[in-house]
Amino acid sequence: MTTSQRIKHILKTGQPGEALTIQGWVRTKRAAKKFTFIEVNDGSSMNGLQVVAGADLPDYVASMERLSTGASVEISGTLAESPGKGQRVELQAKTIEVFGESDGETYPLQKKRHSFEFLRTIGHLRSRTNTLGAVFRVRNACATAIHQFFQERDFLWMHTPILTASDCEGAGEMFTVTRFNLDQIPTDKSGKADYGQDFFGRPAYLTVSGQLEAEIMAMAFSNVYTFGPTFRAENSNTSRHLAEFWMVEPEMAFCNLAGNMDLAEAFLKYVFAYVMEHCADDMEFFNQRIDNAVLETAENIINSEFTRISYSEAIALLETAIEKGDKKFDYPVSWGVDMQSEHERYLAEEYFKKPVIVTDYPREIKAFYMRLNDDEKTVAAMDVLAPRLGEIIGGAQREERLDILEQRITAAGLPKEDYWWYLDLRRYGTVPHAGFGLGFERLVQFMTGMANIRDVIPFPRTPDNLDF
Ligand code: 4AD
Ligand code: MG
Repeated sequence: MTTSQRIKHILKTGQPGEALTIQGWVRTKRAAKKFTFIEVNDGSSMNGLQVVAGADLPDYVASMERLSTGASVEISGTLAESPGKGQRVELQAKTIEVFGESDGETYPLQKKRHSFEFLRTIGHLRSRTNTLGAVFRVRNACATAIHQFFQERDFLWMHTPILTASDCEGAGEMFTVTRFNLDQIPTDKSGKADYGQDFFGRPAYLTVSGQLEAEIMAMAFSNVYTFGPTFRAENSNTSRHLAEFWMVEPEMAFCNLAGNMDLAEAFLKYVFAYVMEHCADDMEFFNQRIDNAVLETAENIINSEFTRISYSEAIALLETAIEKGDKKFDYPVSWGVDMQSEHERYLAEEYFKKPVIVTDYPREIKAFYMRLNDDEKTVAAMDVLAPRLGEIIGGAQREERLDILEQRITAAGLPKEDYWWYLDLRRYGTVPHAGFGLGFERLVQFMTGMANIRDVIPFPRTPDNLDF
């Protein structure tokens, strides 16, 4: 096969007269009298390259017939200034090779707007559409920006395990991993599953977070981050929940809650600025076609200082809004409740109109590892709430004091034996430390304005859905 050039570079810097080869898939074909216009897209950019195939091409009629929407092609020719509007250059074809034809009659991606629901049923083809193409290019840019941000700051990327024996969040939302034949599970004397006979000799799960292992590594390397898939068996059929999602989790030794908030804010600003610079066309597309607040939101994130308030202040604000009749909520509000997404959105979207970091939540509603505050009622937690989305980041300063951590584990009803190594970190060189978890798909959702989280991950896993 000939070496080809990626279309995004040709569109940007290709010069009339240049001879080159492209490879990609036919998006549209329009026949005029003496020639045919073909738009070819190779995934490198929103716009494809317009190819002009003249009737003087060898096998013109036969090859045009084989060139239906969706067909894969290699086309060589010469670039020329384009007289048509919408593109600077076009490719005058000299040779066209069709690798794979596509039955235009049955090809599911017809030249009309398809609903995202429908596109989810063709997860193997939907990435060839404009919107999903833009989503996955932005997703890639976000991932690149994340690594660049941490690498520039000397954070080490650590690969934390996916198979685990411990429940980091203590919420019991884990998927079990087993080699047992589920129709014949070996049992012990009391009739319960005998995990001693299973692959790991003990119950095993898919991880809900890499945090606990990231803490181990932070105690050796000071600043680390983990970025990998996490799994939650929570039965939430919402536009913000996935059973398999990616999480970015930095963990910093010698750091408190204020330092943690500073990092989270700098981090989000950096990633937004990177994507605005590297995916300008895609972001413009989202602003025009998906949500006309996309560019404004990005500017807002990059330029505004995030609001920082305590949970108690947040609850007081919500109560005032209810009392004054400014706002009606479905769920009741009082000190001690876990904020619902409607409350989080009210704060970020309507009240402050920018991201809000809420800190110091009641201990009862947060995980065991969060540091107990002096009031003994709240913990050093922080959630970053984004307009239109609600919680995008959850984090905390960690409990570094052995005795208090032991009490918190017991109070949470977790088996202390399982956390012996986590407790050991508090026995040997313990240090104030903090970190957070960013839901990667929620970030992409927030950035692109896509309404449903299932449309920002290539292959979404949700209750009753495991296709592709
Ligand atoms: O708030 P969470 O549960 O925090 C943790 O797991 C901590 N161990 C993180 C840490 O401190 N290292 O989850 C973190 C983020 C949430 O703010 C949310 O953005 C995302 O992960 N998230 C989900 N995203 C998609 N689908 C789900 N089911 C999610 N659950 C959480
Ligand atoms: Mg959370």
